[in-house]
Amino acid sequence: MSTFPDQFRLDGRTALVTGSARGLGWEMAKALAEAGARVLLHGRTQDRIAPRREELRRAGAACDALAFEMGDRAAMAAAIASAGPIDILIHNVGERDRRPFADIAPEDFARLVDVDLNAAHALVKLVVPGMIDRRWGRLILVTSIVADLAVPGAASYVAAKGGLAALTRALAAELGATGVTSNSLTPGFFATETNAQLMASPAGERQRERCPAKRWADPSEIAGAALFLASPAASYVNGHALVVDGGVSATYLA
Ligand SMILES: NC(=O)c1ccc[n+]([C@@H]2O[C@H](COP(=O)([O-])OP(=O)(O)OC[C@H]3O[C@@H](n4cnc5c(N)ncnc54)[C@H](OP(=O)(O)O)[C@@H]3O)[C@@H](O)[C@H]2O)c1
Repeated sequence: MSTFPDQFRLDGRTALVTGSARGLGWEMAKALAEAGARVLLHGRTQDRIAPRREELRRAGAACDALAFEMGDRAAMAAAIASAGPIDILIHNVGERDRRPFADIAPEDFARLVDVDLNAAHALVKLVVPGMIDRRWGRLILVTSIVADLAVPGAASYVAAKGGLAALTRALAAELGATGVTSNSLTPGFFATETNAQLMASPAGERQRERCPAKRWADPSEIAGAALFLASPAASYVNGHALVVDGGVSATYLA
């Protein structure tokens, strides 16, 4: 048994962080690299992630980049096959569809669920056999507080994230004895590029007020929670949803 803070080191481990060219994925990838992991960055295209890969390499980290679109399962399988053993998966990609229920056609609903939920299942299936063989693995699925607390105007996203949280628990139940832990990471309101427009709107201001912390989180504030779940320190944490939301989901009024 190692001592603190060694229990937060990831030397010798390889971590794939999907959607890590920007936003929360980039912050988590940097943290894991700093803790000693070899990091596999991921984005839709190599040109978008290559500058990030170089940035981590310049900082002394071991780092490679995988490019595939979540909807393209053949490209996903080829990329994972080329990557070598993966010990830690942080599945962070999650698309939004901020439209009223009435405007979301069945095919739009199915497409978003495919990207946000089915693709997670496909990716876990690809990485988990190696984790089981090596008797060590970390599955960390990035959900959202909407997995438990619905909001209007995002029905497909709410449904997909709820499914992802449930998938995490199913994996925890089934893989618990294999050395692989499965947990979800549940962000609240983060000031990522994708939320810039929302933050500047009256709805964004209401969200800020609704949060006991009275502010949007800086994207870097997800990193410690991700590192904890990925680390040896979390060896008995399984099936948990680690909420990072400044207290939103714990409160009725703020
Ligand atoms: N930000 C928040 O406040 C918040 C709150 C709750 C939950 N979350 C969840 O946290 C995660 C990250 O959020 P974020 O705001 O940092 O996300 P983001 O800014 O939307 O970034 C997502 C990343 O995923 C990639 N991506 C998106 N769709 C993809 C696809 N179909 N195939 C491959 N890559 C794809 C993007 O690649 P490109 O760079 O190529 O576009 C980007 O790098 C998401 O799952 C989101 O649902 C975020």
